[in-house]
Amino acid sequence: GPILLLGAPGVGKGTQAQAIMGAWGIPQISTGDILRSNVSGGTELGKKAKAIMDRGELVSDDLVNDMVADRLLRPDTANGYILDGFPRTLGQAEWLDSYLAAPPGSLPVIAVSIKVGYTQLLRRITGRRTCPVCKSSYNIYLQPPKVDEKCDLDGTPLARRSDDTEEVFEERMRTYESLTAPVVEHYRALGRFEEVDGEQPVDAVAAAVMAAVLRLR
Ligand code: AP5
Ligand code: ZN
Repeated sequence: GPILLLGAPGVGKGTQAQAIMGAWGIPQISTGDILRSNVSGGTELGKKAKAIMDRGELVSDDLVNDMVADRLLRPDTANGYILDGFPRTLGQAEWLDSYLAAPPGSLPVIAVSIKVGYTQLLRRITGRRTCPVCKSSYNIYLQPPKVDEKCDLDGTPLARRSDDTEEVFEERMRTYESLTAPVVEHYRALGRFEEVDGEQPVDAVAAAVMAAVLRLR
Protein backbone atom coordinates (compact mmCIF):
# COMPACT_ATOMS: atom_id res chain seq x y z
CA GLY A 1 0.00 0.00 0.00
CA PRO A 2 1.01 3.64 -0.26
CA ILE A 3 3.24 5.33 2.31
CA LEU A 4 1.92 8.64 3.65
CA LEU A 5 4.45 11.11 5.03
CA LEU A 6 2.67 13.49 7.38
CA GLY A 7 3.98 16.51 9.25
CA ALA A 8 4.18 20.29 9.48
CA PRO A 9 5.91 22.50 6.87
CA GLY A 10 9.65 21.78 6.92
CA VAL A 11 9.66 18.54 8.92
CA GLY A 12 11.44 16.90 5.96
CA LYS A 13 8.65 15.14 4.06
CA GLY A 14 10.23 15.90 0.69
CA THR A 15 13.74 15.04 1.87
CA GLN A 16 12.58 11.71 3.31
CA ALA A 17 10.44 10.86 0.28
CA GLN A 18 13.56 11.32 -1.87
CA ALA A 19 15.55 9.06 0.47
CA ILE A 20 12.91 6.31 0.30
CA MET A 21 12.67 6.68 -3.46
CA GLY A 22 16.46 6.28 -3.69
CA ALA A 23 16.51 3.24 -1.40
CA TRP A 24 13.40 1.40 -2.53
CA GLY A 25 12.72 2.74 -6.02
CA ILE A 26 9.10 3.74 -5.41
CA PRO A 27 7.95 7.14 -6.68
CA GLN A 28 7.38 10.28 -4.63
CA ILE A 29 4.09 12.05 -5.28
CA SER A 30 4.30 15.56 -3.84
CA THR A 31 1.17 17.67 -4.27
CA GLY A 32 3.27 20.78 -3.47
CA ASP A 33 5.70 19.93 -6.30
CA ILE A 34 2.88 19.22 -8.77
CA LEU A 35 1.20 22.52 -7.86
CA ARG A 36 4.50 24.43 -8.21
CA SER A 37 5.13 22.92 -11.63
CA ASN A 38 1.63 24.05 -12.64
CA VAL A 39 2.46 27.55 -11.37
CA SER A 40 5.74 27.73 -13.30
CA GLY A 41 4.07 26.20 -16.38
CA GLY A 42 1.31 28.83 -16.25
CA THR A 43 -1.57 26.29 -16.39
CA GLU A 44 -5.14 27.17 -15.36
CA LEU A 45 -4.62 25.14 -12.17
CA GLY A 46 -1.36 26.99 -11.52
CA LYS A 47 -3.08 30.36 -11.95
CA LYS A 48 -5.71 29.39 -9.37
CA ALA A 49 -3.16 27.92 -6.96
CA LYS A 50 -0.41 30.54 -6.87
CA ALA A 51 -2.09 33.21 -4.76
CA ILE A 52 -3.44 30.60 -2.34
CA MET A 53 -0.01 29.02 -1.88
CA ASP A 54 1.65 32.41 -1.41
CA ARG A 55 -0.77 33.14 1.44
CA GLY A 56 -0.02 29.81 3.14
CA GLU A 57 -3.56 28.53 2.66
CA LEU A 58 -4.72 25.30 1.02
CA VAL A 59 -5.85 24.74 -2.54
CA SER A 60 -9.38 23.26 -2.64
CA ASP A 61 -9.85 19.55 -1.97
CA ASP A 62 -11.56 18.98 -5.35
CA LEU A 63 -8.65 20.38 -7.33
CA VAL A 64 -6.04 18.49 -5.33
CA ASN A 65 -7.93 15.18 -5.26
CA ASP A 66 -8.34 15.30 -9.06
CA MET A 67 -4.65 16.06 -9.44
CA VAL A 68 -3.72 13.04 -7.29
CA ALA A 69 -6.20 10.74 -9.05
CA ASP A 70 -4.62 11.76 -12.33
CA ARG A 71 -1.10 11.08 -11.07
CA LEU A 72 -2.08 7.66 -9.68
CA LEU A 73 -3.06 6.51 -13.19
CA ARG A 74 0.61 6.39 -14.17
CA PRO A 75 2.00 2.82 -14.20
CA ASP A 76 4.98 3.65 -11.95
CA THR A 77 2.63 3.53 -8.94
CA ALA A 78 1.91 -0.20 -9.39
CA ASN A 79 4.46 -1.33 -6.78
CA GLY A 80 3.69 1.37 -4.23
CA TYR A 81 4.26 5.09 -3.93
CA ILE A 82 4.95 7.78 -1.35
CA LEU A 83 2.46 10.58 -0.80
CA ASP A 84 4.21 13.77 0.37
CA GLY A 85 1.94 16.62 1.44
CA PHE A 86 -1.30 14.74 0.81
CA PRO A 87 -3.81 14.22 2.39
CA ARG A 88 -3.83 17.50 4.29
CA THR A 89 -7.50 17.89 5.20
CA LEU A 90 -10.01 15.39 6.55
CA GLY A 91 -11.87 15.75 3.24
CA GLN A 92 -8.76 14.67 1.31
CA ALA A 93 -8.19 11.78 3.74
CA GLU A 94 -11.76 10.55 3.30
CA TRP A 95 -11.45 10.83 -0.47
CA LEU A 96 -8.19 8.82 -0.40
CA ASP A 97 -9.57 6.18 1.96
CA SER A 98 -12.54 5.51 -0.31
CA TYR A 99 -10.39 5.68 -3.46
CA LEU A 100 -8.08 3.02 -2.01
CA ALA A 101 -10.87 0.87 -0.57
CA ALA A 102 -12.31 0.29 -4.05
CA PRO A 103 -10.04 -2.49 -5.39
CA PRO A 104 -10.79 -5.74 -3.51
CA GLY A 105 -7.95 -6.93 -1.28
CA SER A 106 -6.21 -3.55 -1.38
CA LEU A 107 -3.92 -2.77 1.55
CA PRO A 108 -4.55 0.13 3.89
CA VAL A 109 -2.03 2.96 3.92
CA ILE A 110 1.06 3.13 6.10
CA ALA A 111 1.25 6.56 7.75
CA VAL A 112 4.41 8.04 9.25
CA SER A 113 4.21 11.39 10.98
CA ILE A 114 7.47 13.33 11.32
CA LYS A 115 7.82 15.66 14.32
CA VAL A 116 10.10 18.72 14.59
CA GLY A 117 9.94 21.68 17.01
CA TYR A 118 8.86 25.17 15.90
CA THR A 119 12.25 26.93 16.12
CA GLN A 120 13.95 24.28 13.97
CA LEU A 121 11.09 24.40 11.44
CA LEU A 122 11.47 28.17 11.10
CA ARG A 123 15.21 27.78 10.34
CA ARG A 124 14.58 24.98 7.87
CA ILE A 125 11.94 26.93 5.97
CA THR A 126 13.56 30.37 5.93
CA GLY A 127 16.97 28.81 5.12
CA ARG A 128 15.79 26.49 2.33
CA ARG A 129 17.21 27.18 -1.15
CA THR A 130 16.77 25.01 -4.25
CA CYS A 131 18.72 24.71 -7.48
CA PRO A 132 16.36 25.65 -10.31
CA VAL A 133 18.33 23.44 -12.72
CA CYS A 134 18.97 20.13 -10.91
CA LYS A 135 16.44 20.62 -8.05
CA SER A 136 19.04 19.87 -5.32
CA SER A 137 17.94 21.24 -1.96
CA TYR A 138 20.16 23.25 0.40
CA ASN A 139 19.73 25.21 3.57
CA ILE A 140 21.82 28.32 4.15
CA TYR A 141 21.84 27.65 7.92
CA LEU A 142 21.84 23.85 8.08
CA GLN A 143 23.23 22.44 4.81
CA PRO A 144 24.94 25.37 3.06
CA PRO A 145 26.35 25.02 -0.46
CA LYS A 146 30.16 25.24 -0.79
CA VAL A 147 29.99 28.54 -2.67
CA ASP A 148 27.64 31.26 -1.41
CA GLU A 149 24.07 30.62 -2.65
CA LYS A 150 25.27 28.57 -5.67
CA CYS A 151 24.55 24.91 -6.51
CA ASP A 152 27.49 22.58 -5.70
CA LEU A 153 26.72 20.45 -8.76
CA ASP A 154 26.26 23.04 -11.50
CA GLY A 155 27.02 26.49 -10.03
CA THR A 156 23.50 27.82 -10.69
CA PRO A 157 22.34 30.60 -8.29
CA LEU A 158 19.95 29.03 -5.78
CA ALA A 159 16.30 30.07 -5.62
CA ARG A 160 13.97 30.58 -2.67
CA ARG A 161 10.33 29.44 -2.66
CA SER A 162 7.97 32.43 -2.56
CA ASP A 163 6.14 30.91 0.45
CA ASP A 164 9.32 30.40 2.49
CA THR A 165 9.23 33.78 4.26
CA GLU A 166 8.72 33.92 8.03
CA GLU A 167 5.25 35.52 7.62
CA VAL A 168 3.94 32.89 5.20
CA PHE A 169 5.56 30.11 7.26
CA GLU A 170 3.54 31.27 10.28
CA GLU A 171 0.32 31.10 8.27
CA ARG A 172 1.28 27.65 6.90
CA MET A 173 1.75 26.51 10.52
CA ARG A 174 -1.70 27.87 11.48
CA THR A 175 -3.20 26.09 8.47
CA TYR A 176 -1.40 22.90 9.51
CA GLU A 177 -2.67 23.07 13.10
CA SER A 178 -6.28 23.72 12.14
CA LEU A 179 -6.73 21.57 9.01
CA THR A 180 -3.93 18.96 8.89
CA ALA A 181 -3.34 18.00 12.53
CA PRO A 182 -6.78 16.27 12.50
CA VAL A 183 -5.56 14.16 9.54
CA VAL A 184 -2.70 12.87 11.72
CA GLU A 185 -5.23 11.88 14.38
CA HIS A 186 -7.38 10.19 11.72
CA TYR A 187 -4.51 7.91 10.68
CA ARG A 188 -3.34 7.37 14.26
CA ALA A 189 -6.82 6.04 15.03
CA LEU A 190 -6.83 3.74 11.98
CA GLY A 191 -3.59 2.04 13.14
CA ARG A 192 -0.60 1.32 10.84
CA PHE A 193 0.71 4.64 12.13
CA GLU A 194 4.01 5.69 13.71
CA GLU A 195 5.63 8.92 14.76
CA VAL A 196 9.30 9.64 14.05
CA ASP A 197 11.64 12.24 15.56
CA GLY A 198 12.60 14.46 12.62
CA GLU A 199 15.09 16.52 14.59
CA GLN A 200 18.07 14.30 13.76
CA PRO A 201 20.46 14.20 10.79
CA VAL A 202 18.75 13.34 7.48
CA ASP A 203 20.21 9.79 7.38
CA ALA A 204 19.05 9.02 10.93
CA VAL A 205 15.52 10.23 10.14
CA ALA A 206 15.54 8.16 6.95
CA ALA A 207 16.57 5.05 8.88
CA ALA A 208 13.81 5.66 11.43
CA VAL A 209 11.14 6.28 8.76
CA MET A 210 12.09 3.16 6.80
CA ALA A 211 12.22 1.03 9.96
CA ALA A 212 8.71 2.27 10.85
CA VAL A 213 7.41 1.42 7.37
CA LEU A 214 8.89 -2.09 7.56
CA ARG A 215 7.30 -2.67 10.97
CA LEU A 216 3.91 -1.50 9.73
CA ARG A 217 3.95 -3.39 6.45
P1 AP5 B 1 4.27 21.72 0.22
O1 AP5 B 1 5.22 21.89 -0.88
O2 AP5 B 1 3.74 20.38 0.52
O3 AP5 B 1 4.91 22.41 1.51
P2 AP5 B 1 4.94 21.99 3.06
O4 AP5 B 1 4.02 20.95 3.52
O5 AP5 B 1 4.85 23.28 3.75
O6 AP5 B 1 6.27 21.24 3.17
P3 AP5 B 1 7.67 21.70 2.70
O7 AP5 B 1 7.90 21.29 1.28
O8 AP5 B 1 7.90 23.14 3.01
O9 AP5 B 1 8.57 20.90 3.71
P4 AP5 B 1 8.98 19.38 3.80
O10 AP5 B 1 8.36 18.77 5.00
O11 AP5 B 1 8.83 18.66 2.49
O12 AP5 B 1 10.51 19.57 4.14
P5 AP5 B 1 11.79 19.50 3.20
O13 AP5 B 1 12.21 18.09 3.01
O14 AP5 B 1 11.60 20.33 1.98
O15 AP5 B 1 3.00 22.67 -0.01
C1 AP5 B 1 3.14 24.02 -0.38
C2 AP5 B 1 1.77 24.64 -0.59
O16 AP5 B 1 1.08 23.96 -1.65
C3 AP5 B 1 0.81 24.54 0.61
O17 AP5 B 1 1.01 25.60 1.52
C4 AP5 B 1 -0.56 24.59 -0.09
O18 AP5 B 1 -0.90 25.92 -0.43
C5 AP5 B 1 -0.31 23.81 -1.36
N1 AP5 B 1 -0.60 22.37 -1.19
C6 AP5 B 1 0.30 21.35 -1.23
N2 AP5 B 1 -0.32 20.17 -1.02
C7 AP5 B 1 -1.63 20.46 -0.82
C8 AP5 B 1 -2.77 19.66 -0.53
N3 AP5 B 1 -2.68 18.33 -0.39
N4 AP5 B 1 -3.96 20.30 -0.39
C9 AP5 B 1 -4.10 21.62 -0.54
N5 AP5 B 1 -3.05 22.44 -0.81
C10 AP5 B 1 -1.82 21.86 -0.95
O19 AP5 B 1 12.88 20.19 4.15
C11 AP5 B 1 12.80 21.56 4.50
C12 AP5 B 1 14.21 22.14 4.71
O20 AP5 B 1 14.84 21.48 5.81
C13 AP5 B 1 15.17 21.95 3.55
O21 AP5 B 1 16.03 23.07 3.49
C14 AP5 B 1 15.94 20.69 3.90
O22 AP5 B 1 17.21 20.68 3.30
C15 AP5 B 1 16.05 20.81 5.42
N6 AP5 B 1 16.04 19.52 6.11
C16 AP5 B 1 15.23 18.45 5.87
N7 AP5 B 1 15.49 17.45 6.74
C17 AP5 B 1 16.49 17.89 7.55
C18 AP5 B 1 17.21 17.33 8.67
N8 AP5 B 1 16.93 16.08 9.12
N9 AP5 B 1 18.14 18.08 9.25
C19 AP5 B 1 18.42 19.34 8.80
N10 AP5 B 1 17.79 19.94 7.77
C20 AP5 B 1 16.83 19.22 7.15
ZN1 ZN C 1 22.06 22.26 -9.39
